[in-house]
Amino acid sequence: MFFLPKLHQRVFLRESSMVIGMLIFTVCQLKAQGYREIEQLKKGWFFAKQEMPDALSSQLNGPGWTEVTVPHDWAISGPFSRDNDQQSVRVTEDGEAKEKLRIGRTGGLPFFGIGWYRRLLPITAKDKGKNITVEFDGAMSNARIFLNGKFVGEWPYGYTSFQFNITPYVNWNGINVLAVRLENQERSSRWYPGAGLYRMVRLVKTNAVHVSHWGTFITTPSITSREAKINIRTQICNELHNNKAIVIRQEIYDPKGHIKGSSASVKHLSGKLNVSNQIVVANPELWSAEHPALYRVKTTVLSSSKILDVYYTTFGIRDIRFSPDRGMTVNGIKTKLKGVCLHDDLGALGMAFNKAGLRHRLKLLKAMGCNAIRGTHNPHAPEMLKLCDEMGFYYIDEAFDEWRIPKVENGYHRLFDNWAEKDLQAMIERDRNHPALIMYSIGNEIKEATTPDGAEIAKYLTMICKRADPTRPVTAGINVLEPAIDYGFAKVLDIPGWNYKPEQYSRIHQLLPDKPLYGSETASTVSSRGAYHLPAAKASMKIWPDNQASSYDLEYCSWSQLPDVEWMNQDKNKFVLGEFVWTGTDYLGEPSPYNDNWPSRSSYFGMIDLAGLPKDRYYLYQSRWSRKKVLHVLPHWNWPERVGKIVPVFVYTNYPEAELFINGKSFGRKRFKTDELLNRYRLRWDSAIYQPGELKVVAYDAHGRIAATRSVKTAKEPARIVLEADRNRLVKGVDDLCYVTVKIVDREGNLCPDAENLVSFEVSGSGTLRAVDNGNPATTEPFQANYRKAFNGKLMAIIQAGEHKGIIKIRAFAKQLSRTEITVKVR
Ligand code: GAL
Repeated sequence: MFFLPKLHQRVFLRESSMVIGMLIFTVCQLKAQGYREIEQLKKGWFFAKQEMPDALSSQLNGPGWTEVTVPHDWAISGPFSRDNDQQSVRVTEDGEAKEKLRIGRTGGLPFFGIGWYRRLLPITAKDKGKNITVEFDGAMSNARIFLNGKFVGEWPYGYTSFQFNITPYVNWNGINVLAVRLENQERSSRWYPGAGLYRMVRLVKTNAVHVSHWGTFITTPSITSREAKINIRTQICNELHNNKAIVIRQEIYDPKGHIKGSSASVKHLSGKLNVSNQIVVANPELWSAEHPALYRVKTTVLSSSKILDVYYTTFGIRDIRFSPDRGMTVNGIKTKLKGVCLHDDLGALGMAFNKAGLRHRLKLLKAMGCNAIRGTHNPHAPEMLKLCDEMGFYYIDEAFDEWRIPKVENGYHRLFDNWAEKDLQAMIERDRNHPALIMYSIGNEIKEATTPDGAEIAKYLTMICKRADPTRPVTAGINVLEPAIDYGFAKVLDIPGWNYKPEQYSRIHQLLPDKPLYGSETASTVSSRGAYHLPAAKASMKIWPDNQASSYDLEYCSWSQLPDVEWMNQDKNKFVLGEFVWTGTDYLGEPSPYNDNWPSRSSYFGMIDLAGLPKDRYYLYQSRWSRKKVLHVLPHWNWPERVGKIVPVFVYTNYPEAELFINGKSFGRKRFKTDELLNRYRLRWDSAIYQPGELKVVAYDAHGRIAATRSVKTAKEPARIVLEADRNRLVKGVDDLCYVTVKIVDREGNLCPDAENLVSFEVSGSGTLRAVDNGNPATTEPFQANYRKAFNGKLMAIIQAGEHKGIIKIRAFAKQLSRTEITVKVR
């Protein structure tokens, strides 16, 4: 049965002895009935990408409507065009003195305009008396919701989750048609925002008495190794507004699913009611990024022995503290934020949310040693927080990129006055139970920070945060130092975040001695996977004729720095909590520094390219962040035009020493030099002389013993295709994905580093080819195609499992190369 800790046994018995009987009843009953029906509305939608005169009619699939599945991004299939959403702007954050034309700023995709979605809802006469809501995890954007032709409500900001109660509009004996009108404006974003019902939509049926939407708030006011006090505040709602006696019973389950405590209270309810319960958990298993242990609260609402609702909330028990001098501690252990910023798009999938796609991305980041994510610059899909809880990442939830002063003509400033409170509250109420969540960011590079109004608005937003969740600090990403301090903006925040200010860390610490600090955005170093340009020189805003930034990792933006500068300053200033690198993966839009150089249409900032293939920089961060031993060598070794000439060689490693050999000839051993910026975190052989053959690096441990070796060989002609699936077992029916890396290799299996063969795919059996990409930020080739050119020898095929179990066959072929086939199981 269940276990009641002493304290609560007392509380519980005092409240009512009749409850015990009910509790026993509860346990028996739960398996039998669905008290809360939740249906994901994925299939059966009809879509039209224009204003539709028949949009509110009950006929779903008239002329002009096509069937789609949700999540859906109407713009990701393109076509790309330089004319899509050109923006002529002066970006002061980038230090621009005058207006410039930005092409590809939002990805060059047709995300703007009107889109309608319609769907039949499975509601029958049997549901009469139920409370029916529709939940949207996000809808891009300016959503207007209709049921049976009647206006239900609107939600303009495309990134927040929202729900509407549609009960009053339901046709109990007939057909119920949900219609959603969306409209995206041009010049409304600084990156690709996507378009459509791009996140999950759900139909939820409950009894009239039920736990409110996002109705629980769990806090852990005291934690010791012996016990943790868990406060559970629950809002119960009675839609009938009649006076009803109810019992609210709560049980806590540990990570293994065992009950660790419970509590119950009896209440009278006529509208909305907040109920607080406290449960003590003995010997709690603490959550951290290293050990993501998750607990669950099961809330049962009963009336006259009848179960009315069952509602689950996942949470974690952890103690996270921030100190201006000592940095961050997690459960008493000093922890650095080794974080990345991420925008929401999933590369070739666009904004159409896919959990397996996000998991794939987070897995790569985790393997790099990353332990934190800043979800820029807007609330992300709820699954992002779920995955951070499960996989172990600290997470910053960010609400806005703009307040009242615009960055883009049709940006959030148009909504700020009427919606900021609702949007911020929605973000917090949705997310506040996630142990991964460590701070709320009320904005990124907010222009008001440099005005007298900034501090007042920041106070107002901070008040909203604290009201919804007093337990978490409030932050913002700041890019202007003096004004943000002089006008009092930074002071309002619990933890000001600093964008691109590593050289100022010690000064900021002096100016704001009572505030912890961290790099909310760092580096913005740019590179294209596998593209090496000579000379390999440190350069700001470097433009190369092929629109590719060099993978020697020495190019950055005028407002930003190399990782080396950031790290040197973090190492000097140990109080820094850590950093969030811009960015973990490339994203659609913002192709700085190639902002007016079409066809550049996606970013160069990622450590991982848009296709999900790690760039060299991935290993540079891994060498600093991971406990794993890392030895990575660059560039490739195919330089026919440079025989006998210099080709610098870099090694990213956490071994203390390495030696370079070219065709067996040593170019010397190297160690890190703390007094030379570019030799502090990388080992560089700037005068290596190219000869075709073998580039080999040998790493030595602290005792001078050989610890690891890596070699790169000069590749011959492309001969065959290699397919490597990241997973060979997928799950049916849940849009599960595997990422198949495609490599063009020579006869001996060496990667052909400049191969650009056109590869075609045939996918059959229990899955389909969802999208292709090669990580090239400067191409207009479509993502939705069964072919793709290799980019610097590699590309990616994203395969989606179908509805049935079986085998997926993936075949790849290209002219003059031998074809390859692999299989993946679907269970
Ligand atoms: C920052 C900004 C980010 C992105 C980045 C590129 O200033 O906050 O959104 O634009 O620059 O380096």
